[in-house]
Amino acid sequence: MILVTGGTGLVGSHLLYELALKGQKVRALYRNDKRLSKVKHVFSYYSDDPKTLFNRIEWVLGDITDVPKLQSAFEGITHVYHCAALISFQPNDYYKMRHVNITGTANVVNLCLQFKIEKLCYVSSIAAIGSSKTNQAVTEEQDWQSDKQVSAYALTKYGGEMEVWRGTQEGLAAVMVNPGVIIGPGYWKSGSGTLFTMIKRGLKYHPTGRTGFVDVKDVVNAMTGLMSSNISIERFILISENAEWKRVLTEMAVGLEAKIPRHRASDFKLNIARWADAIRSVLLKKQRRVTKSSMRSMASRTIYDGSKITNTLGLKYQPLSDSIASNCRFFLSDQTKT
Ligand SMILES: NC(=O)c1ccc[n+]([C@@H]2O[C@H](COP(=O)([O-])OP(=O)(O)OC[C@H]3O[C@@H](n4cnc5c(N)ncnc54)[C@H](OP(=O)(O)O)[C@@H]3O)[C@@H](O)[C@H]2O)c1
Repeated sequence: MILVTGGTGLVGSHLLYELALKGQKVRALYRNDKRLSKVKHVFSYYSDDPKTLFNRIEWVLGDITDVPKLQSAFEGITHVYHCAALISFQPNDYYKMRHVNITGTANVVNLCLQFKIEKLCYVSSIAAIGSSKTNQAVTEEQDWQSDKQVSAYALTKYGGEMEVWRGTQEGLAAVMVNPGVIIGPGYWKSGSGTLFTMIKRGLKYHPTGRTGFVDVKDVVNAMTGLMSSNISIERFILISENAEWKRVLTEMAVGLEAKIPRHRASDFKLNIARWADAIRSVLLKKQRRVTKSSMRSMASRTIYDGSKITNTLGLKYQPLSDSIASNCRFFLSDQTKT
């Protein structure tokens, strides 16, 4: 039986859909009943009978930072997909992220060893790969550089990777994927989903940088492909294309029939926005919307080489424009339902 952590998130819900469709025996961890409706909604994008597929999944209440509960979820498990993580650019979330992304991953790895799990697939991120100072595309071989430019999220995803590699030294078979920005439907208020929401609301500015993007379906195909292969102790960057933010946001605007964000968000303008946002967050006790690390990530010009998975498994990525267009259609169809 397969165990999936983070099953109520973007990657986990799409992975659960594929596993349920293939008739695999799956158990998934969840923390809150309300989040289960998100998963059903994701299934409804792809199936006329989402309820039947959803009911094939055995849901267990648990948290990766709560070892006793997590331990009972491991009974009878042979394979583990570890997708759970806390993704945040909030400066105050550093210790919370350490707890979930490093200690939580260490707990998963320790239980994999204890229960003699046959294979683990860990979802890392390009954030844990490190950036390049040159124009050359970064590969899986890139050395990690820890400096002041590194975000708290990146540090904790890298810490999670270290726990997985430690597990492999203790005998665990494991593979790792490092996706770029994942484009997928259903989570319009978090991750890349917020971009669709902001564009629809009339975002005027586009960041100056570029990054790597990948469709959530490609992430799932890479994960299931790697799990059914003999490959172990390797990581795979998942990037369909490296693209300027300007191009991506423009294509979203076209697909959503919204205004195109024509203005460049220069460092000067972003710094003013950051200070205004910091004051707003203190006065209104609200989450920060523009932080130093989100600014840095949007201005980064690092490019990533996602070809290893194609050369190894033959996986063909969905073109970025197709992925944006189909997600715009999902967004618009969700809007008509609400
Ligand atoms: N989205 C991206 O663009 C992107 C890019 C690169 C890598 N990644 C990586 O991909 C993985 C999946 O990301 P995603 O986009 O699916 O994120 P997401 O939509 O935010 O989902 C995160 C999942 O983790 C669960 N979770 C968080 N803390 C937990 C805890 N303490 N115990 C158990 N479960 C917990 C959440 O549960 P609740 O529903 O209860 O909150 C949710 O199911 C993460 O490892 C992330 O770092 C994401």
